[in-house]
Amino acid sequence: MSLDVVILAAGQGTRMKSRLPKILHPLAGRPLVLYSVEVAAALSHRPPVLVVGHGADDVRAVVGEGARYVVQAEQLGTGHAVLQTRDLLRGQSAHVMVFYADMPLLQASTLQALYEAQRSHDGPFSMLTVLADQPRGFGRIVRDGQGSVQAIVEERHATPEQLAIREVNPGIYCFNATWLWDHLEAIPLSAKGEYYLTDLVEIAARAGERVHARLMDDPVEALGINTRVHLAEAEAALRARVNEALMLSGVTILDPASTTIHPTVTIGQDTTILPNTHIWGTTTIGQGCLIGPNTIIQDCTIGDACTIRASVLEGATLEDQVDIGPFAHLRTGAYLERGVHMGNFGEVKNSRLRAGVKMGHFSYVGDADIGEETNIGAGTITCNFDGKRKHKTVTGKGVFIGSDTMLVAPVTLGDGARTGAGSVVTHDVPAGTLVVGVPARPRPLEPPEAEDR
Ligand code: UD1
Ligand code: CA
Repeated sequence: MSLDVVILAAGQGTRMKSRLPKILHPLAGRPLVLYSVEVAAALSHRPPVLVVGHGADDVRAVVGEGARYVVQAEQLGTGHAVLQTRDLLRGQSAHVMVFYADMPLLQASTLQALYEAQRSHDGPFSMLTVLADQPRGFGRIVRDGQGSVQAIVEERHATPEQLAIREVNPGIYCFNATWLWDHLEAIPLSAKGEYYLTDLVEIAARAGERVHARLMDDPVEALGINTRVHLAEAEAALRARVNEALMLSGVTILDPASTTIHPTVTIGQDTTILPNTHIWGTTTIGQGCLIGPNTIIQDCTIGDACTIRASVLEGATLEDQVDIGPFAHLRTGAYLERGVHMGNFGEVKNSRLRAGVKMGHFSYVGDADIGEETNIGAGTITCNFDGKRKHKTVTGKGVFIGSDTMLVAPVTLGDGARTGAGSVVTHDVPAGTLVVGVPARPRPLEPPEAEDR
């Protein structure tokens, strides 16, 4: 027994009023189409067949190897779209599932249940239906006195009585493949000049064949996107779903309404997320952290017991017990080892701050490797760019960098080196040496007894 999945994605999505094809608009940071492709991948080991038309090249560029493609050159309706896949799929599988690419909240378990239902009988097809408070544009499910589904009537063709029907068509079907391929061409041309896939219901009913219709448990899954208003609704629904799952797994989220966490993020137990925090992309956060308020974290790896207040982190790695903010900015390649403290108004890019480094106030560290337990004084700057190229700054262990030091890269400071306040360091500093001034020059370190006198 095998299953092929067909996803219809050839429409332009006119109602989005956009140059971008509808299904490439992002939801939780990722193009809509990827949600349907992923849910299909969970059902069948055979890549889904994406019917593309408008923006076909852009869609291919986004989905890549994740799907097989069939082009529908002219958008003559959903029935016509499925017909385009017949040459590719006929004789390949026992069942064919069809749904639309604009339903990103569909869950694999829901589709799996539909597939199981169709496998349990030999009727022509099974479909899902949904009870909608606002049927906005959905086809209405017409049943007879016995409750058998007789037809799906598109909103634009419905009578006033049919418009009052609250059971609607989300557009998710699982077909007996042989029946589908044999009957697609029986679909008549509609008054609108399209071949409606939904007319297969009437075709089956007229032939005395029973179409199985199952009500969906969660109508949110059927949220289809036609306008940017729907896109915002889907964003809110997905946000609620992700936040709820995290809370149930042991994460405290103080204000879920102001917290956006993408589905691609993982967060450990007993971490607390404060309001207005946004955690995006491929971010992983450990246990027992305190994050926010007013924080953006994208594509970061964060260990356990970290504190991140009112900061922006992109492409950074934090080991355990790192404490940063408020108003810190970590950029790509920032790596803060265990126990690093970074206070307000600091920026770190493409640099390693080794264990126990302290960087309290107003500093920029770029293209640097800062040794263990080094203290970076207020206002320190790595001058890493000479106008043409970037250069590296390296310090040893336990270095003390005085306030307002300019480290003119490339430059290396040995273990235990020190710089005076306001130094402009243009030459390497040997271990245990103090440099001061502009440009900075060595000055003998006075023995502690001498200082005491
Ligand atoms: C369709 C259903 C309707 C259902 C609704 C659910 C039909 C005739 N109607 O209406 O019963 O309630 O979805 O959202 O199926 N597409 C193609 N080629 C085409 C036409 C459409 O690939 O020629 C694709 C679109 O890109 C889209 C999907 O099929 O992803 C649905 O098309 P859309 O125009 O949004 O259909 P609706 O009018 O919403
Ligand atoms: Ca639609």
